[in-house]
Amino acid sequence: MMKNIILETNTLTKSIPTSDKMLTILTGIDLAVHAGESIAITGTSGSGKSTLLGLLAALDTPTSGSIKLFGTEVGTLSEDQRAQLRLGKIGFVFQSFHLLDNLTALENVMLPLELQSNDASVRERATKALQRVGLGERLNHFPTQLSGGEQQRVAIARAFVIEPQLLFADEPTGNLDRATGHEVEELLFSLVHDQGTALVMVTHDEGLAARCQAHYHLDGVLVRQGGSV
Ligand SMILES: Nc1ncnc2c1ncn2[C@@H]1O[C@H](COP(=O)(O)OP(=O)(O)OP(=O)(O)O)[C@@H](O)[C@H]1O
Ligand SMILES: [Mg+2]
Repeated sequence: MMKNIILETNTLTKSIPTSDKMLTILTGIDLAVHAGESIAITGTSGSGKSTLLGLLAALDTPTSGSIKLFGTEVGTLSEDQRAQLRLGKIGFVFQSFHLLDNLTALENVMLPLELQSNDASVRERATKALQRVGLGERLNHFPTQLSGGEQQRVAIARAFVIEPQLLFADEPTGNLDRATGHEVEELLFSLVHDQGTALVMVTHDEGLAARCQAHYHLDGVLVRQGGSV
């Protein structure tokens, strides 16, 4: 039996006003993501992958078309309502880590938990999440005191600490050397597996895309690769 759809778009478009004209980035995007499903999106630089991820994650709103996240239509929601919809359910991992430089590894991972609650378990849960990614000995390091691979592992701990239903990753290994990228990839897939998280990942790495259950290619429109479902 097919599992529940947690994210669904229908003829989604995104255009952005520029000084002289409207720039159309995405046209007619149709996509469905089921609970626990992993999806890879590839496409050339500038094809709109990050823009699409921002829409799918309800960080941004479409120009037209429908996007339903956890059953709620996103297009008509305010910024606060979209934040509320994401809270505790969505995790992000970016190419450039996006850690807060003035917070330690532990404090970075505590942050998403603190948005949900302020009870005593926050520190303990964040510590466990960092241990899970192999950084139990680096809790009090600041991002500048960590290697790129370690920073990305902190970002992964931060994304998974809330046990999200849905994780978005935008070229998570793009800034890492091959060996480190491979370690981060293993970690990401093992957490996705352990937590039953649905994954929507943008990548330039065909090997990474092949590990996902579905592979789409974006070039203005989104086309599923490798035949029908
Ligand atoms: N706020 C904006 N205003 C104007 N143009 C934008 C804006 N955001 C994105 N674009 C343009 O939209 C296109 C898609 O950008 P996007 O960042 O989504 O591409 P991408 O596929 O993620 O590329 P990359 O692989 O290099 O990360 C680009 O041509 C970009 O210049
Ligand atoms: Mg991008």
